[in-house]
Amino acid sequence: MERSGIRRSDPHRSADTHATVGTAFGIPTALPDLGAARALVTGASGGIGLEIARALAAAGAEVIMPVRDREKAARAEAEIRRTAPRARLVLTDLDLASLDSVRALAARLVEDGRPIDHLVLNAGIVLLGDPVRHVGADGYERHFQTNFLGHAVLVLGILRLLASPSGTRVAVQTSLAAAFAHVQLPGDVERGGYRPLRAYGSSKLALGLFGMELGRRAGGDGVRVALCHPGIAPDTGIAADLRATASPSAGRMSRRLGNTPAQAAGPALVATTADVADGRFVAPAGTFQLSGTPVASRLFRRLRDPAASARVWEFAERVASTG
Ligand SMILES: NC(=O)c1ccc[n+]([C@@H]2O[C@H](COP(=O)([O-])OP(=O)(O)OC[C@H]3O[C@@H](n4cnc5c(N)ncnc54)[C@H](OP(=O)(O)O)[C@@H]3O)[C@@H](O)[C@H]2O)c1
Repeated sequence: MERSGIRRSDPHRSADTHATVGTAFGIPTALPDLGAARALVTGASGGIGLEIARALAAAGAEVIMPVRDREKAARAEAEIRRTAPRARLVLTDLDLASLDSVRALAARLVEDGRPIDHLVLNAGIVLLGDPVRHVGADGYERHFQTNFLGHAVLVLGILRLLASPSGTRVAVQTSLAAAFAHVQLPGDVERGGYRPLRAYGSSKLALGLFGMELGRRAGGDGVRVALCHPGIAPDTGIAADLRATASPSAGRMSRRLGNTPAQAAGPALVATTADVADGRFVAPAGTFQLSGTPVASRLFRRLRDPAASARVWEFAERVASTG
C-alpha cells in the first residue's frame, strides 16, 4: 500500500472473487475480471463507497481511495482486505471541500500519468438537522462544494487521464433528492432560503448535470458516463447526527425500506462497468427506487436538461481555470 502518493502496482494479479452486483433487466450479475484496470472511488473510507471499492478490488482492479481521514481510511482498508486479501488499494489525500486539496490530487494523478479506467464520483455529505448554512474557505456552500464542485474540478483536472485505451467509465452518484431539486449556482437568486435538504438536492442535481455534459463532451474520446443513485441506505455514515437522534422504530422502518451499504453499491458498480443506454440511469428496482437490485431506469427529468448541464459545466470550468 502506497500511503502518500500514487504508485504502480502489478496489474496482472488476478481477482479474489467476482463481486456480485445483483441483476435485473439484462444488467450483469457480477463484475467482469478487472485485473488490468485502475479505478478511483471518492468517499471510499466508509458507507457505500467502501462497498464500491471492495467490489472493484475483489474483481481485481487497483483502487485509488482519495480520503480526508487517514485513520478512518485505514480501517476501511483493513475491512476490504478482510474479504479481498489480495486487494490492490492506494490511499491518497483528498478533501473535496478544499479546492487546493482537489487540485493537489489532480496534479499527483496527472504527474503519475496512468489512465483511470473506472472513476466513481461517490463522496457526499448531507447536513440534515443543521440549520446553519456553512461556507468554506473557498467561499462556497458546503454541500455545493463537497458534492458537486470538488468533484467537477477534480474531473476537469484529470480529463487527460480519462481517455483510457479501454474507454474510461465514469459513475456519477446522484440521489433521489436530485429529482425534485433546482440548481443553485453562486450568484443565482436563492429559492426559498437555505435548507440542508434543498442544498443537498441542488448539489446532487448539479453533479448529475455535470456528468451528463462530461458524457457529451468526452464521449468522442471514449469516456462513457452513467449516472446512478443508491436508493436509501440507512446504515452508512451520512446524516449521522440526525440518525443518532431518530427513534428506534424510525431506524427499524428505514432499514426495512432501504438497502444495505453493499446493496446500495450496486447501481454505481453497474454504472462503472456496464453500458447504460442514453436517457437512462442506474437505480434500485424497488418501489419508489428506495431499494432493490440495480436496473436501468428513466433518467430524472431535471437531469435531462442540456442547457442546465452546459451552464453547470461552464461554471466548473471557470472555477477550475482560476487559482
Ligand atoms: N445513504 C443514503 O441513503 C444515500 C442516499 C442517496 C444518495 N447517497 C449518496 O451516496 C454517497 C455515499 O454516501 P454514504 O451514505 O455512503 O455516506 P457516508 O457513509 O457518510 O460516506 C460518505 C463518504 O464521502 C466522504 N466525504 C465526505 N466529505 C468529504 C470531503 N470533504 N472530502 C472527501 N471525502 C468526503 C466521506 O469521508 P469521511 O470518512 O472523511 O467522512 C465518506 O467516505 C453520497 O454521495 C450520498 O450523497 C446516499
